[in-house]
Amino acid sequence: PSAPPAPLVAEMDWTALKASVAGCVKCGLCQGRTHTVFGVGDEKAKWLFIGEGPGRNEDLQGEPFVGQAGKLLDNMLAAIGLRRGENAYIANVVKCRPTDDSGRDRPPAPDEAAACLPYLERQIALIRPTVLVALGKTAALSLLGLDPDTPVSRLRGKVHRYAGLPLIVTYHPAYLLRNLPEKRKAWEDLCLATATYAAAD
Ligand code: URA
Repeated sequence: PSAPPAPLVAEMDWTALKASVAGCVKCGLCQGRTHTVFGVGDEKAKWLFIGEGPGRNEDLQGEPFVGQAGKLLDNMLAAIGLRRGENAYIANVVKCRPTDDSGRDRPPAPDEAAACLPYLERQIALIRPTVLVALGKTAALSLLGLDPDTPVSRLRGKVHRYAGLPLIVTYHPAYLLRNLPEKRKAWEDLCLATATYAAAD
């Protein structure tokens, strides 16, 4: 008798999904990883924040946003009354750390993001948050399927939809650390997200 077909990611429960990510070899990023970074938070969270992919610290610890950008993200969450692990879930587009030839962090390539996207899609479907917040261009464009040249400045300031859920786009915390004056705009985005949450909940 032939083996039963492998379960579809889109039909997995949390346990199967976590196991599938932990053993994933769908793209080349698996070769350099120390840990996969699945995501963290309440599986019933009303807020889901989506970053790009693990960096060095995240790869070592297996948890998203644990470096400098993570501190800023925690402050952004606190500013709107949220705490990671409590009422906010944090995930990334790719679950393994992308690096360049010199071992530095880089954004995921489109094929890497596409290979990993079903995991994020399933996380979104299982959580069914009230609001999605895309942190930076990779998350926004992966979910909205827009032209890769679309800048965050054109995506922020309005409410998008992903799978029927409101999605707000803001700057990535690592970008904000390099461009401090842009924090004011990120604050506006968080206010828009809060208003959207209040209207939807
Ligand atoms: N940047 C991201 O996009 N995700 C992380 O988990 C860490 C840094």
